[in-house]
Amino acid sequence: MCGIVGYIGHREAVPDILKGLKALEYRGYDSAGLAVLSHEEGKVKCVRSVGRVSALESKLRENKDLSGTIGIAHTRWATHGAPTLKNTHPHFDRKREIFVVHNGIIENYREIREILEREGHKFTSETDTEVVVHLMRSFLDDGHTHKEAFLKTLSMIKGAYGLALMIRSDPETIYVARHSSPLVIGKGEGENFIASDPSALVHKTGNVIYLKDGEVAEVGREDIRITDLSDVPAEHEVVELERDLKQVQKGKFEHFMLKEINEGADVIRSACRGRLRVKDKAVNFGGLRDVRNELLKIKRIIIVSCGTSYYAGLAGKYIFEEIAGIPTEVEQASEFRYRKRAFIPQTAVLAISQSGETADTLAAVRVAKDSGILTLGLVNVVGSTIARETDAGVYNHAGPEISVASTKAYLSQITILTLMSCYLSERRDQEVLDLMEAIDSLPKKIEEVLSRSKDLEVLADKYHKYDNFFYIGRKYGYPTALEGALKLKEISYIHAEGYSAGEMKHGPIALVDGNFPTLAICLNNGVFEKMRSNIEEIKARKGPVLVLSNEGEGGMNDLADDVFHIPRVPEPLEPILSMVPLQLFAYYIGVKRGVDVDRPRNLAKSVTVE
Ligand code: G6P
Repeated sequence: MCGIVGYIGHREAVPDILKGLKALEYRGYDSAGLAVLSHEEGKVKCVRSVGRVSALESKLRENKDLSGTIGIAHTRWATHGAPTLKNTHPHFDRKREIFVVHNGIIENYREIREILEREGHKFTSETDTEVVVHLMRSFLDDGHTHKEAFLKTLSMIKGAYGLALMIRSDPETIYVARHSSPLVIGKGEGENFIASDPSALVHKTGNVIYLKDGEVAEVGREDIRITDLSDVPAEHEVVELERDLKQVQKGKFEHFMLKEINEGADVIRSACRGRLRVKDKAVNFGGLRDVRNELLKIKRIIIVSCGTSYYAGLAGKYIFEEIAGIPTEVEQASEFRYRKRAFIPQTAVLAISQSGETADTLAAVRVAKDSGILTLGLVNVVGSTIARETDAGVYNHAGPEISVASTKAYLSQITILTLMSCYLSERRDQEVLDLMEAIDSLPKKIEEVLSRSKDLEVLADKYHKYDNFFYIGRKYGYPTALEGALKLKEISYIHAEGYSAGEMKHGPIALVDGNFPTLAICLNNGVFEKMRSNIEEIKARKGPVLVLSNEGEGGMNDLADDVFHIPRVPEPLEPILSMVPLQLFAYYIGVKRGVDVDRPRNLAKSVTVE
């Protein structure tokens, strides 16, 4: 979603702000803008542009005169109003005195706007955000102090916000506030930083304060004053930033997505480090220690998540039921949060989220907490809101994932879910011991698949011109089909549908013809023959079929148009290994179709609005 950056200190603000914006660009990239306050001139200069941060940067080159040591900036992912110049943040009042950047959605903006327009305020954008500057203007005109006006403004708006606001006549302060949209303050020496995501701060400082919901801060050069919405001072903790945030370079790879797919083996090693001890037949999670006894009595697990994390959850459901024997449901967080649920006692809700900031997943956690349910998090970003708000949890330690399409986090999530199933189970029979060993040796198998990337590039060349694609699988192949199709549509814009293979005959097969290819996940497992029959049915209708299969017997070469082989693993690990070639296939197709695969249109990495 949108990204916010701010700086107040003793150095020129623009270079720092720009660096921060670039670090946040993966979150949203429809348009970008910044405002800088020049102390000497007592003026605020505001530059905005449509498109990527690089477009803003070009525009800044023409505006040499952007000196100032206090500034705010924004990169936008449009929600209210098209990505045009007038809708680009910062927004400001007609006197060009109040400047604001906002992440989130102000739900009651229409009512507020109507009232303000009746009072004579002239709006220049279609955004929800602009009401903030006009409300501020109106409270300042009524004689309130800056802080009072800010608090009064916040008391009027409903919805989600991470806000940073600058006032021309107040060159010593940036006002920030948070409600359901992340906001972090970085502490420096005689300078302070603001961002919606700590990855924008890591180059500046290692010490941060995570603002909590309902908190407001006046950020000065030296001091940071944090209060609640009634101006009562709030306690805050300065936290050290994780060093792994520094790994945000593409290195030798053309795209972050390719780099992150290639990190597949390493993320599994990191997920297992210190947790899986094959020789001792043991799995441990430090983050679950405090709730271990409660967990051993759990009767039901409900996994809540969105997007790729939801599909990881679907694989998790199969694994939990098969290995730990715990009845498990998985539900899209956006559904879970609004429907009335009947919880049985001893239920745990497990939120899976790469970013730890997804608005719907966070809301689902809060619903569960309000119902007195034990909440767990499986989160990649250390210190993120979901990580902080769940009762206990496990980190992926997969390192920063920058590409909008999630790849390595998915592998890590399913690895940890598999480890969790062993942790929650008393079983140490041969099946479970084999599974533990197989997890341990999985990185090598991933490396082997990655070493054959070129074959997938060739297949991508053959299939990249189709307009439609089915992905089908059964059992553990089903979540894989869904996630494989999601990857393809996200980064190639090809219409791709994932189906359980058994459902094809109930409707979807009507679409199959010579121009509608199918990617079938058909491995040497318990559903091999069933899958083979489904592939026969597609072939009988002249549908081209590309099969992901295991080598050896049942290799599928006789039936399929094309085959890509992967090594054999126990069934619960199939979703992990199968996804590597599917990620690469989608990647190469996206590149061949000329898509900016790291930043596909209309998508955002961290979805902090519902
Ligand atoms: C966005 C991203 C997806 C991600 C989903 C859930 O849609 O583009 O890649 O799977 O959010 O994100 P989370 O951070 O909660 O895993």
